[in-house]
Amino acid sequence: MISVHSLTKVFKDRKRGQIRAVDAVSFSCQPGQIYGLLGANGAGKTTVMRLLATLLRPTSGSATVAGYSVTDAPDAVRAHVGFLAASTALYARLTARETLAYFGALQGMDAAAIAARTDTLARGLGMTDFLDRRVGTFSTGMKQKTSIARTLIHDPSVIILDEPTLGLDVMAARAILRFVRDCRDRGKTVIYSTHVMPEVERLCDRVGIIHGGRLLAEGTVAELRERAGKADLEDVFVTLTGAEKEEAA
Ligand SMILES: Nc1ncnc2c1ncn2[C@@H]1O[C@H](COP(=O)(O)OP(=O)(O)O)[C@@H](O)[C@H]1O
Ligand SMILES: [Mg+2]
Repeated sequence: MISVHSLTKVFKDRKRGQIRAVDAVSFSCQPGQIYGLLGANGAGKTTVMRLLATLLRPTSGSATVAGYSVTDAPDAVRAHVGFLAASTALYARLTARETLAYFGALQGMDAAAIAARTDTLARGLGMTDFLDRRVGTFSTGMKQKTSIARTLIHDPSVIILDEPTLGLDVMAARAILRFVRDCRDRGKTVIYSTHVMPEVERLCDRVGIIHGGRLLAEGTVAELRERAGKADLEDVFVTLTGAEKEEAA
C-alpha cells in the first residue's frame, strides 16, 4: 500500500549548504499495519511524510501510495491520504463540527456523508462533548483530536500522522493511540512518527529507525531488540543509531 524506494530529499540552505534530510530511504507498509518512524529531532521523519503526502518533491528515488506514484500522480495520492502535519492549524471561530463540515466540503462530500462521518469520528476520538463548541476555546488535546478528525474526514485508506501525541496529556494521548489502533484494525495503512519509545512498543507493527536522514534499521520491535542485543527499546535505539559514540563524545 505504501512502497518507498531509495527516497532522497536534499535541501539547499543558504547557511548550512546542502542538507540530505532524507537519504536513500526504502520501506513498505501494508494495509492493516502501523509503520512507526522513530527518530530524534532533525532525523528526517517530517520530510519523509511530506514527500509521501506530495507536499514536497523527492530529489531522487520513488514512492507509491495506494498504488499511485507521488511524482507522477500526486492528485490521486492526495485523494487517498490523510496527512496530519505537526503544524496543522484550525479556525478559532468555527466549532469542531463546522470545521469538519468545511473540510468535508473541500473533499467534495455531501451533507449526509459529512454528518455520518462526523458522528463516526467524534465517537472514535471522544469528541462528542465539545463538537459544537468553538475551536478557539479548546485545550491542546481537543484541538489535536479536531485536527485528526479533519485530516480523516474523507476516510482515506492511508493515514500519515506526524508526532500526533506531541505535547498532549496522558488521557488525550491514550484516546489518540486507541483511535489509531482502531484505524489499523479496520484495514488502514498507517505511518506514524514519534520519538517516544513506549508509544512505538504499544502501537507499531513495524518500526524504522531514522537518523541523519538514513533508515538505519527496520523490523518488528522484537527483531530490533534481537539485532541490538538489548531488551530496552531506548538502548536498542541508541545502539542502532550509533548515538552511543555521540553520547560518549
Ligand atoms: N525546508 C527545509 N529547508 C532546509 N532544511 C530543512 C527543511 N526542512 C527540513 N530541513 C532539515 O532537514 C532535516 C530533517 O528535518 P525533519 O524532516 O523536519 O526532521 P524530524 O521531523 O525528524 O525532526 C533537518 O536537518 C532540518 O533542519
Ligand atoms: Mg518532525
